[in-house]
Amino acid sequence: MLMAACMLVATIGVAQVPSASAVALADAKATEPPVSNSVVASATPAPNASHSQSALYTVRDGNKVDAKTLAGWKTWRALACERCHGAAQEGLVGPALVESLKKLTKEEFHTTIMNGRLEKGMPPFSSSKMVTENWEGLYAYLKGRSDGQIQPGRLTALDKE
Ligand code: HEC
Repeated sequence: MLMAACMLVATIGVAQVPSASAVALADAKATEPPVSNSVVASATPAPNASHSQSALYTVRDGNKVDAKTLAGWKTWRALACERCHGAAQEGLVGPALVESLKKLTKEEFHTTIMNGRLEKGMPPFSSSKMVTENWEGLYAYLKGRSDGQIQPGRLTALDKE
């Protein structure tokens, strides 16, 4: 009888492992194709708390954005990325990021802004606390620009209306 109980526990233990990793996989998938999420998120501007993390950005009227994306835009302004990439991200000495963000993965984006590509004129930003703390918001902002969902220029907070 005791044996049977142990076996049961063991079986449950094993059964939980694959289901837990399936959840992890589903989470990873949910964050990967952010474009459709963002469109849904922008259509329904009150995503519940558990889903707000998988939505890359939320935007209304083209210039009202969620707090993380707003911090990303402020980082863009503070670090003067527009000096080389243009105020509307359409490129100057640096490439048009509205195009780059269609191809760059989030990982490649992160590596590029942290390490830079000094020999090609892109400075590293890993020593900027603002960038290390807000790089995901910066990515979200630039994705929104690249998707044509976020307008160039000044942004305000979504909840301040
Ligand atoms: C001094 C000029 C300069 C500044 C300032 C600058 N960049 Fe760049 N950036 C470049 C250049 C030049 C490249 C192209 C490097 C190459 O040819 O691979 C680049 C490349 C990039 C890329 C990769 C684009 C691609 O298509 O692979 C990203 C992303 C990027 N920059 C983001 C930023 C962000 C975000 C900031 C502000 C925090 C910033 N840059 C500030 C010059 C600059």
